[in-house]
Amino acid sequence: MRNKVEKIAVLTSGGDSPGMNAAIRAVVRTAVGRGVKICGIRKGFTGIFEENMVEMTAESVSGIIMRGGTILYTARNKEMLTEEGPKKAAEILKANGIDGLVVIGGDGSYRGAQALSKNGVNVIGIPGTIDLDIACTRYTIGFDTAVNTAVEAIDRIKDTSTSHERVSIIEVMGRSAGYIALESGIATGAEEILIPENYEYDENKIIEAVVDNRKRGHTHHIIINAEGIGDSMGLAKRIEAATGIETRATVLGYLQRGGNPTCRDRVMASVMGEIAVKLLCEGKQNRIIAFREGGYTDLDIDEALAMKKTIPEYMVEVAETLTYHYTKENSI
Ligand code: F6P
Repeated sequence: MRNKVEKIAVLTSGGDSPGMNAAIRAVVRTAVGRGVKICGIRKGFTGIFEENMVEMTAESVSGIIMRGGTILYTARNKEMLTEEGPKKAAEILKANGIDGLVVIGGDGSYRGAQALSKNGVNVIGIPGTIDLDIACTRYTIGFDTAVNTAVEAIDRIKDTSTSHERVSIIEVMGRSAGYIALESGIATGAEEILIPENYEYDENKIIEAVVDNRKRGHTHHIIINAEGIGDSMGLAKRIEAATGIETRATVLGYLQRGGNPTCRDRVMASVMGEIAVKLLCEGKQNRIIAFREGGYTDLDIDEALAMKKTIPEYMVEVAETLTYHYTKENSI
């Protein structure tokens, strides 16, 4: 018979994302409901080395489901990338009687979790990142909130940009992935969406499109630029110099990571938190929770991390089809 799980721990790691608190709450409440002791580890993997751990109760997660950020704090830990780090972390977890660890974070955090699994710690990963760049899942906690924040900001910039008949470049986060750019660009009707996965754009064509659209009486030109391409200020200067049209760049930055999570992020984070504890209690080993093909599932951590993420082609096609591009071929 399987040994009963007595004590588990939860941590958040890497860039914070709205909805992480909802996931922590779900992990804690599910554990408490099942009679399992639950401990929160502060500051990601760093908290393991510092033994910065706190016993959690149903009350300690009261009133946090609507709050952005993470009550457990977060960090990017370099020690976990060494040979010795995960070994030491695993020993500390064992010495603290921890039977299973829930890691809420992105790809980098999963590498740490995977290293712990190789050292005998049972880990369950919950995808938490605004970037949506985890290959095994179509959903990550925080993306929905972040992309909606970006959309709201872009709408506002578009108002003032149109009034001044300017070109506006808006840079959104996403590290080396273009999901926030692609979805916020489609949602705001941007004239151009630049994403690293589709890095074949030709700056001269962008300039030509700006000039042609303007000749046709189009009074705004919104370019969504992904962080993975960057250099928005430089691009603005070059467009202005080439076209004579005032061009401004705005880097949205960290405001995309904060704020109250959307309903979708709260609910999906809650479901994933509950699944994580259930998996541990069922004796499942080293799994990553994912949302695939319209449902929740879990995958082996090594399998999940070996997957490669690609942007759905049809989304890029939709973006290109709906973009207002005046070209000689489509002129009437
Ligand atoms: O992974 C989330 C993210 O916000 C990325 O979009 C961005 O590249 C990165 O984190 C910024 O990280 P940091 O908070 O370490 O500056």
